[in-house]
Amino acid sequence: MDNVLNIETPQVDVVRTGVADEVREQLAKHLSVILAETYMLTVKSHLYHWNVVGPLFKSIHDLTEEHYENLFAATDELAERIRALGHRAPVNVQEGKLNLSVTLPAGGMPSAHEMIKDLVQSHEMISAELRDMATYAGDNDDVVTEDLLTERITFHEKAAWMLRAIITE
Ligand SMILES: [Fe+2]
Repeated sequence: MDNVLNIETPQVDVVRTGVADEVREQLAKHLSVILAETYMLTVKSHLYHWNVVGPLFKSIHDLTEEHYENLFAATDELAERIRALGHRAPVNVQEGKLNLSVTLPAGGMPSAHEMIKDLVQSHEMISAELRDMATYAGDNDDVVTEDLLTERITFHEKAAWMLRAIITE
């Protein structure tokens, strides 16, 4: 009986996957900013999907639908990666607090051209942030986060290209 009691059981609340504690903490912190920005861009893509008018209506309406569906699915993947890294997954969309680079339109709906410029800028800003994080994750042995972020960069770069192509002469 003594032997049974002495068997060392692993602590289930401790993450030991070979990624250093401080790396997991840094990545979780940055992933939670990306999570909030991804939510903001989901909402913005939806707003433009509903409210766009003019000759570009169909192109923007259809493309933003594809995008908000991908973005919404990505929020779940990002949040679950934060949990697997051993941290809580907060959603804090108070722009001022987190200093998010993606914001919602202020002062009414922009024109179709302005919508596209705004969306391209948001996709590109997120891509740049993701690229820094992916490099950090890869350099610090977290290939799973690096892989997820690479997949997200691929989406955002393609989205920016397709949006930009709509207004390029
Ligand atoms: Fe719709």
